[in-house]
Amino acid sequence: MSGLATSEPSSLPAWAVVRPPRAGHIARVEALLAGWAEARGVGVAEAARWRRAARLHDALRDATSRTLARHLPRGAWPKGVWHGPAAAAAAAAAGETDPGVLDAVRYHSVGFAEWDEVGRMLYLADYLEPGRTHERAALDAIAARVPSEPEAMLREVAARRIGWLLARGKPVMVQTWEFWNSLAAGDSSSSR
Ligand SMILES: [Fe+2]
Repeated sequence: MSGLATSEPSSLPAWAVVRPPRAGHIARVEALLAGWAEARGVGVAEAARWRRAARLHDALRDATSRTLARHLPRGAWPKGVWHGPAAAAAAAAAGETDPGVLDAVRYHSVGFAEWDEVGRMLYLADYLEPGRTHERAALDAIAARVPSEPEAMLREVAARRIGWLLARGKPVMVQTWEFWNSLAAGDSSSSR
């Protein structure tokens, strides 16, 4: 349970395997989400969900395959995205019960059509946080529009992330296509 208490907003979970550069990324994602939560005027509990998702999402990004497998067998997950579902499993085992937070963490590298707001905001912050230097001005412009136009910016970021995969001939997971189709169909803002 340690590390999930709201009284420790900046702490990583006890089971985290995070090198200093990764810790910096996680802190920047958390700070970006905190700023968006304030700008959007979300409640304290919702803002806390966003913070927890930020702290959990890459908590096993620097872990070995052996450590990942201790939390969750790899199964059909591609190696590069395995740390997300493994972190979700570790968080659940440590007491995280919020399904939206767990789905945010589980699919943060992939996209997920059924995400609620925490998954969507984490996907945006993970890509837009200021430590990413490539095309920084464009990313800053997108990040600034997130509080007022989250759905449009989600489509923009998803198009960029999926376009990156396509441009390099990488495979695209079926969950990613389902996520994209949910955004392109414009049915993503109605009930979430
Ligand atoms: Fe990340």
